[in-house]
Amino acid sequence: MIKTAGIQTKLDVTAIRQQFPILNREVKGKRLVYFDNAATAQKPQVVIDALVNYYTHYNANIHRGIHTLAEEATAAYEATRDTVREFINASSREEIIFTKGTTEGINLVAATWGRQNIKAGDEIIISTIEHHSNIVPWQVLCEEKKAILKVIPVNDDGELMIDEYKKLLGPKTKLVSVVHVSNALGTVNPVREMIELAHAAGAVVMVDGAQSTVHLDIDVQEMDCDFFAFSSHKLYGPTGVGVLYGKKALLESMPVFEGGGEMIKEVTFQGTIFNDLPYKYEAGTPNIADTIAFKAALDFVTATGKEKIRRHEDELLQYATDELEQIPGLRILGKAREKTSLVSFVVDKIHPQDLGILLDNRGIAVRTGHHCAQPCMIRYEIPGTVRASFAMYNTKEEIDELISGLKKAIKTLL
Ligand SMILES: Cc1ncc(COP(=O)(O)O)c(C=O)c1O
Repeated sequence: MIKTAGIQTKLDVTAIRQQFPILNREVKGKRLVYFDNAATAQKPQVVIDALVNYYTHYNANIHRGIHTLAEEATAAYEATRDTVREFINASSREEIIFTKGTTEGINLVAATWGRQNIKAGDEIIISTIEHHSNIVPWQVLCEEKKAILKVIPVNDDGELMIDEYKKLLGPKTKLVSVVHVSNALGTVNPVREMIELAHAAGAVVMVDGAQSTVHLDIDVQEMDCDFFAFSSHKLYGPTGVGVLYGKKALLESMPVFEGGGEMIKEVTFQGTIFNDLPYKYEAGTPNIADTIAFKAALDFVTATGKEKIRRHEDELLQYATDELEQIPGLRILGKAREKTSLVSFVVDKIHPQDLGILLDNRGIAVRTGHHCAQPCMIRYEIPGTVRASFAMYNTKEEIDELISGLKKAIKTLL
């Protein structure tokens, strides 16, 4: 066991597993091995309890009520905002906008900042390894505004070609929107450096933090991104909640996203005075229950220790990579020097989906396909990959099961 300064730094995985009830279930008569964490992570009991507790004891609409239940629900909802602020080190709670998820966060920026600031001939830069949710909103905006979408190429190892990025930046670049960690390859992009370069060119930067926020320490002030979006459900929290961080001055200058209740101060038929931040961007009744339970997930991660979790996940990644590399005909996609805990691979002459089905027959859940990153698949001339992605509750024994299941599946399919 590694110890530093008297602090136990090794994760107690057995104790952690006991807190995720779903890990006790069987699939096709086998104990579940869940390696689809990059799609969504499983939920600890504290998150499930927070949901049940809200609906059992203080279900009420927020902000508007003066009765006890409404006050309790409002306090719990707003407490999540404070916890998120701390989790990503934003400078103020007004910079934390609750959304449905990463996708909505990016769409919000495209529809507000984008519509206001992008003009014909302007350029937006994204990368080859983006998730569709960080491609399509910009394509739609470019189409509408007659702007130009430029794409940073990626090398054979799955690393962005920063010299090419530098060449793409110029006086016409208005926005760079880049993924922090690729969901298809696991690459950690050098966003700090990329942001500095973009700012020097006068561009605003949006970072897609859907995959990074669960694995890396996020400090939006240090990173100096202008916008940062992520989802609760990849962070052991409920589905249907996400966060858009934006620098206050930018959020204040942007037009509203959706109109309705909550986002106003005063409405007359002569006009509307919009609410202050962050409520200006939160129209209608939000996802109260899931937002409240999201705090339980963040507290759980913080109490467990992000550093400890990361070490454990890094060990799993290294172990899985070493084992997979020994399987004849198997090729790992994404060999970046900086990676988080997922491994994507293809096997000669076998369709990824066939492998996925045979692994599922053994209770092993992996993701197969293009991972909502089709341009990335096109770059590597493959239809898709098998992706195993690891979380704090996964073990080396489970990776052994994956390896043995894969070997048997390959034997069956070839
Ligand atoms: C890199 C990346 N960006 C964006 C998204 C979209 O997240 P959501 O579906 O939670 O909005 C995902 C989801 O897989 C992702 O991996």
